[in-house]
Amino acid sequence: MPQYSLHINGKLQKVIAEPDTPLLWVLRDELGLCGTKYGCGVGVCGACTIHENGAAVRACQIAVSSAADKRFTTIEGLSSTGEHACQAAWVDQDVAQCGFCQAGMIMEAAALLEGRAHPSDQEIDEVMSQHVCRCGAYQRIRKAIHLAANAAPEKKST
Ligand code: FES
Ligand code: FES
Repeated sequence: MPQYSLHINGKLQKVIAEPDTPLLWVLRDELGLCGTKYGCGVGVCGACTIHENGAAVRACQIAVSSAADKRFTTIEGLSSTGEHACQAAWVDQDVAQCGFCQAGMIMEAAALLEGRAHPSDQEIDEVMSQHVCRCGAYQRIRKAIHLAANAAPEKKST
């Protein structure tokens, strides 16, 4: 099997895998980054959302062979202290119920706020409704995103 050098959470990681192995499984099984969840495996649920060069992407849909020249961030790398504005807002609003979808939700929300400092309810719903939360935490997610947006406005563009 070929070896790949991947940029994950600011570090260069070498992994050996079949070329078509989804990045999701490389993260979880080879690198031990289990914060990124498997929900559907077909790009629908959003549980596996990570950042690719700052944009939200679904790790189950990225072959490891196409990942070498990109920079990825997982929930473990979003903040070294777990204090990213979204993470703090999620705690403040008690967003998680079972929690399974939440790492993907937070990664999506963080990418949203990088591009849009103060998204409207409609803009939030358009993005976050593309994720499946079986516990129905969407109302709390929306509140948490507004809270995060207000917590660190100086870091984001409008
Ligand atoms: Fe990737 Fe569902 S596991 S979108
Ligand atoms: Fe349970 Fe979203 S909090 S699936």
